Amino acid sequence: MRSDIPASLANLKHFLAISDLEPNVLADLVDFGIQRKKQFREGKLEPVLRGKALAMIFQKASLRTRLGFETAMVQLGGHAINLEDHQVGLTRREDVRDVARVISSMCDGIMARVYGHQLVVELARFSSVPVINGLSDFSHPCQALTDMLTIKEKLGRLAGLKLAYIGDANNVARSLMNACAMMGVNFAAAAPPGYQFEEGDLATGRLLADRSGSQVMQTDKPAEAARDADVLYTDVWTSMGQEDESEQRDRAFAGYQINRELLKQARPDAMVMHCLPAHRNLEITDEVLDGPQAVAFEQAENRLHAQRALLEVLMRPR
Ligand code: CP
Ligand code: NVA
Repeated sequence: MRSDIPASLANLKHFLAISDLEPNVLADLVDFGIQRKKQFREGKLEPVLRGKALAMIFQKASLRTRLGFETAMVQLGGHAINLEDHQVGLTRREDVRDVARVISSMCDGIMARVYGHQLVVELARFSSVPVINGLSDFSHPCQALTDMLTIKEKLGRLAGLKLAYIGDANNVARSLMNACAMMGVNFAAAAPPGYQFEEGDLATGRLLADRSGSQVMQTDKPAEAARDADVLYTDVWTSMGQEDESEQRDRAFAGYQINRELLKQARPDAMVMHCLPAHRNLEITDEVLDGPQAVAFEQAENRLHAQRALLEVLMRPR
């Protein structure tokens, strides 16, 4: 079968950070994911990765990322191998260069969830097969790709919308800001002082937003960020690796919860998103997460569809 992958995606080698992509590449990835999801539902997907193997390294816990990649490989006729990092010992047992070289000699792609972002950069540098960032302390591009797909599928467009992110300026938030800025979605972040985006991150977001004609703003007032938003989004206040700070963070973020009151600031039909896992009744109430405006569980399912499309783009023989 001739590949119908958009030509703009032909040169995509790795998937490490949203800010590495050209806006048209991200836009085409989103549309390709939506197209493949529809074909999947119609039973029309071809096993285009038959005989291919994806090596997955996890330095941190995961449910959605692992399930999404492993299930996607099965659906495409290939196989995923979960290499627990306590077995691989990335940097401790073996140099990243050597790990990248060995995996490249046996597998067709690498997915890595790491602490320091530099590790995925190094893996990509020394690997001859595609490397996908399955979350680093700096970014979570698979999540942001999925989030754009989810918003476009649910609301029919991206440009001109307003997304309010209430919470920690973390990996998820950074990728989301850049994806919104590239796609013309106005992005408003609200976090307490000390947990906001640094100037360098904001500058990157604003540069991308200038090019798409959207805006990036940051405030310490959740109601201001949420005002007239089409989408409210949050993530945990304490990310993996920050567990020692959780009490201090819970205190700092009190007042930054997505709840019924905050939802009133947004548009009446606003959609509520959460990348999950959620810390229920901290960053979001049960009532909102389980309520009619939340799409967090469709968002979670869409990890499978977005990641399957990404695997096809990166690993399908041309
Ligand atoms: N949202 C997300 O990446 O979920 P996991 O940490 O469970 O993979
Ligand atoms: N910010 C969270 C996201 C988990 C999917 C973390 O890094 O733990």
